[in-house]
Amino acid sequence: MTTLESEVDLFAPENVADPFAVLDRLRELGPAVHLAQHDFWLLTRYDDVRRAAADWKTFSSAQGVALTPQFNEQLAGSVLATDPPEHDQLRAVLSEKLAPRGLAAIRAQVREYATRLVDELVARGHFDGVTDLAAVYPVNVVADLVGLPQEGRELLHPGADASFAAFGPWGPYVQQHLQILQSYHGWMAAMADRSRLAPGSWGEVVMAAVDDGQLTERAAHSTLGAYMTAGMDTTVNAIGALLQLFAEQPVVWETLKTDPALAGPAFEEILRLESPVQGFWRLTTADTEIDGIRVPAGSRVMLHWAAANRDPRHYPEPGTFDIRRNPLDHLSFGHGVHGCAGQALARLEAKTLIETLLARVERFELSGEVLRRGNPIVRGLQSLPLTAHR
Ligand code: HEM
Repeated sequence: MTTLESEVDLFAPENVADPFAVLDRLRELGPAVHLAQHDFWLLTRYDDVRRAAADWKTFSSAQGVALTPQFNEQLAGSVLATDPPEHDQLRAVLSEKLAPRGLAAIRAQVREYATRLVDELVARGHFDGVTDLAAVYPVNVVADLVGLPQEGRELLHPGADASFAAFGPWGPYVQQHLQILQSYHGWMAAMADRSRLAPGSWGEVVMAAVDDGQLTERAAHSTLGAYMTAGMDTTVNAIGALLQLFAEQPVVWETLKTDPALAGPAFEEILRLESPVQGFWRLTTADTEIDGIRVPAGSRVMLHWAAANRDPRHYPEPGTFDIRRNPLDHLSFGHGVHGCAGQALARLEAKTLIETLLARVERFELSGEVLRRGNPIVRGLQSLPLTAHR
């Protein structure tokens, strides 16, 4: 067996701004490449990433899914950073709320929220697709579901963004957002005080599990934190990418206008193409082999969802948006026991938003410069000035 090594810095600003060319090169270099700069192994091929995500015994989350020890310490004991059976117990707490029956109960609420927001923005004509829409809609939907008060919600999106960045190297982006990260964690801890959570909310369900002895107070806080963080910046970035696509490729919007049933497939395809969460790490519990490459026990391994989602071995013409591809097997929601707990909610939010926009907007036009954020872990926009023509 051989070892493959590369000096490429996946988190250098130019590679964060445009990761796909360097990921293509690393995918062709080999199935598992050791990146010397940050000392971890990178998996980029669809079959390997999927197989590793399914094999939680060898690719464990329990010693952290982030790159650095300091952030892994913070995540310890959360739903993201545990293995079965402990993981399954944490995950079960909110599973009913996120199952189809639980979501059916909030369908009307999500639609009403989307309608109110879109009506206001379309009446304005010009708005920012990120700061006025993508970063407002899912943040408020999730905050309402968790049962959080209005006060302090402006911290949620920047806080979730900073939290995701902290999964990666302790580089300049994290340093610049450290203050926000601290305020966000402080605010979340204060909000977990049950007297501030709305009756019947997810927050209340999680705190009730503490009273029943199913969860420790610490596990309850980290679980609520995981749902809040995971449920916000991810969907924000997916919706931002969709709006950019509608403005830059009018043919996609025209196709949706004539066939609104393609709203779901359009969302799946943008998730595949953009992969809002680029990848997370695991730690190997035993020596393992990835297609002839030996990865020793105790190695940190990055499962790169974004690279896998553009593997030409699995998706022909992977860099092209194809509204009819409907890639339901993409890895943007991860795979296996940690596969996204909120994927049905994300799909509900996106589909509801697309349908609400379809009923009100003839076409979108870019009305200014599109700015991308430099977050090394979540891929998304900072600003997307739009005009919506009625
Ligand atoms: C487009 C939107 C979303 C994307 C791209 C996304 C992506 C992901 C990914 C890649 C994972 C796997 C992590 C791993 O394997 O280590 C994950 C897990 C998770 N997601 Fe999502 N997510 C989205 C929306 C949501 C929403 C709306 C919620 C809830 C409100 C949510 C809650 C979670 C939770 C709790 C986990 C941890 C599951 C576990 O460890 O068992 N996500 N998500």
